[in-house]
Amino acid sequence: METIKVSLGERSYEIRLSHTFEPLAGAVCGILPAGRALLVSDENVYPLYGAAVRSLLEQAGFQVTPAVIPAGEESKTLAQADALYTAAITAGLDRSSAVFALGGGVVGDLAGFVAATYLRGVPFIQLPTTLLSQVDSSVGGKVAVNHRLGKNLIGAFYQPRLVWIATDVLQTLPEREFFSGAAEVAKYGAIMSEPLFRLLEEKWEAFRSLESDVLTGVIAECCRLKARVVAEDEQEKGLRAILNFGHTIGHALEAATAYRYYLHGEAVLAGMVLAVHLALGQGLLGREDGERLLKLFARVGLKAAPPWLGAREVLAAMRQDKKRTGERLVFILPAAVGQVRVCNHLKEEDILPLLERYLKDAAENLLTVGKNRLRI
Ligand SMILES: NC(=O)c1ccc[n+]([C@@H]2O[C@H](COP(=O)([O-])OP(=O)(O)OC[C@H]3O[C@@H](n4cnc5c(N)ncnc54)[C@H](O)[C@@H]3O)[C@@H](O)[C@H]2O)c1
Ligand SMILES: [Zn+2]
Repeated sequence: METIKVSLGERSYEIRLSHTFEPLAGAVCGILPAGRALLVSDENVYPLYGAAVRSLLEQAGFQVTPAVIPAGEESKTLAQADALYTAAITAGLDRSSAVFALGGGVVGDLAGFVAATYLRGVPFIQLPTTLLSQVDSSVGGKVAVNHRLGKNLIGAFYQPRLVWIATDVLQTLPEREFFSGAAEVAKYGAIMSEPLFRLLEEKWEAFRSLESDVLTGVIAECCRLKARVVAEDEQEKGLRAILNFGHTIGHALEAATAYRYYLHGEAVLAGMVLAVHLALGQGLLGREDGERLLKLFARVGLKAAPPWLGAREVLAAMRQDKKRTGERLVFILPAAVGQVRVCNHLKEEDILPLLERYLKDAAENLLTVGKNRLRI
């Protein structure tokens, strides 16, 4: 078992990595008084792991009320939060009760939002079951639901009291979801850890076939890196922005396709590939490092854009996002393997030709640094 601390003063907490949920009960008892608990999960995850987790919590003395939501992004709504408030009130959850999130980022973000707001905040425990949620969304305290006008617009910073990562559950995760999470894993290496990047280069096959030691080591390292960033900049006033590498374009691709075409990591991967080319074009990144980055991203797998998507629509989505966050167009660009720069001088015209290449050319053309591909 591995333990990683997220240092945030009195809101500090631990991330524990284990193969299974088995030792969870003991850990929870050390943190919370056993009382009532709402166990939030989705229709895919609950049938697989719900009963086992429920019985572990019951052994620990909790009175557990399961609340199972439909799987998928459509569940991250205020209406679904309302249904969970009703479940919590009906089950008699009080201030000392706890909310457990057993599932991917959708369950974690929604249950965390409910935990943050029910009775002005009750203890929250993350039991992430996707690779993406294990390395990213369960750590750092961003919780939210979507609004019909945009994603994650209603939310809070609300840290969990414990994150329990059971790596064995990834065995049932659909492959496409695994690679979506793998994009965020590659991102950590690219932005802040050359050693992690190298480990992925060397052990890619072992990682993707879920070989236990490699998988656990990689997930732990990602959590360590995210914990370090969050401890330094909990509310994204500076450093935390580097985690948005690939996300300026990635978010726009997701929004322009109404969140129905790309999984989050797939859109981020396309964003990272384009960011590499932008950085090469700006003379910020050397050819050798550019090739290394693209080679690993290629192994994660670049998804081609849908044939009907136009560059103007993607730029419009980017503009919309910028308007909402009140920020300038900010790009996180790679400067070397393991290093990025925040770049806010780029204009839409700088991005347009590159975007058109991704949308029109075969996506594979962007996965090498060809002789005449250095300048965009
Ligand atoms: N809070 C944050 O900091 C943060 C960061 C990144 C992403 N997010 C959010 O996370 C969400 C995406 O999360 P996700 O990628 O985990 O998607 P998800 O929660 O939709 O899970 C993906 C799919 O896998 C299924 N599943 C989950 N675990 C499984 C398992 N072990 N075995 C079999 N099936 C399993 C789910 O039922 C679902 O169908 C988005 O809403 C995004 O906004 C939040
Ligand atoms: Zn992301």
